[in-house]
Amino acid sequence: MKVLLIGDIIGQPGRVVVEREVIRLREERAIDLVVANCENVAGGAGVTPSTAEDLFRAGVDVLTSGNHVWRKREALELLKLDPRVLRPANYPDGTPGTGSTIVETLSGHKVGILNVMGRVFMEPLDCPFRAAERELRRLSLVTPVIIVDMHAEATSEKVAMGWFLDGKVSAVFGTHTHIPTADERILPQGTAFITDVGMTGPYDSVIGRRVDQILERFLSNRPVKSDVAEGNVQLRGLLVDVDQRTGKATAVERITRVLDGAIPAHRD
Ligand SMILES: [Fe+2]
Ligand SMILES: [Fe+2]
Repeated sequence: MKVLLIGDIIGQPGRVVVEREVIRLREERAIDLVVANCENVAGGAGVTPSTAEDLFRAGVDVLTSGNHVWRKREALELLKLDPRVLRPANYPDGTPGTGSTIVETLSGHKVGILNVMGRVFMEPLDCPFRAAERELRRLSLVTPVIIVDMHAEATSEKVAMGWFLDGKVSAVFGTHTHIPTADERILPQGTAFITDVGMTGPYDSVIGRRVDQILERFLSNRPVKSDVAEGNVQLRGLLVDVDQRTGKATAVERITRVLDGAIPAHRD
């Protein structure tokens, strides 16, 4: 089976390229399941029921997230009510929502999806490695096909998670830095890995935000507002072939789609 993994989708430009490309990609490449990170989808930070719905309608099956998922108040209800929307599993007990889920593809295959978040240069959460171990004990009783979004800042922590889970899951894909890395591979025990799949959004930007505003912030050392940028909008993803009987990855390929034409007038 084929799974498409998409990193942080940035605001309206990100939604537009997902809306134009994902259903087409699903058909062209016979993709069975699409997982995407939604932490930046609503106006560049957070997720709302309507922006999540836009992504589901555009052909995304499961949404993972990260540190920015809490930025819009409506996300709390979404996380409580919609099992297709995940937050990292290693938040404290009692945090709304869930960090893992199992879905069934149209061809009838069950797939586990797990979301964890790193701790290096980030908030002090529970250990993502132990949390992954705990969640996998449950997921792997149901299916050998398991996808993990490791949302983290440090490349070392993400690479370590790949090795930690090698042979235990089908794929570990890094998100959060918004910068795609070129190290996609299949680890020795059959786990597909990439340090960061990169953002889906405007690449004429500083990790999705307007260049002029971010430069002003760096040059002045003062807080300056930062809007979502608009130019050079791209979808970046990782396409993984998985043997559904064993859960092992058999091929990985980075996917890039550039949006041609302007994005429509702004809506959040
Ligand atoms: Fe992000
Ligand atoms: Fe993040």
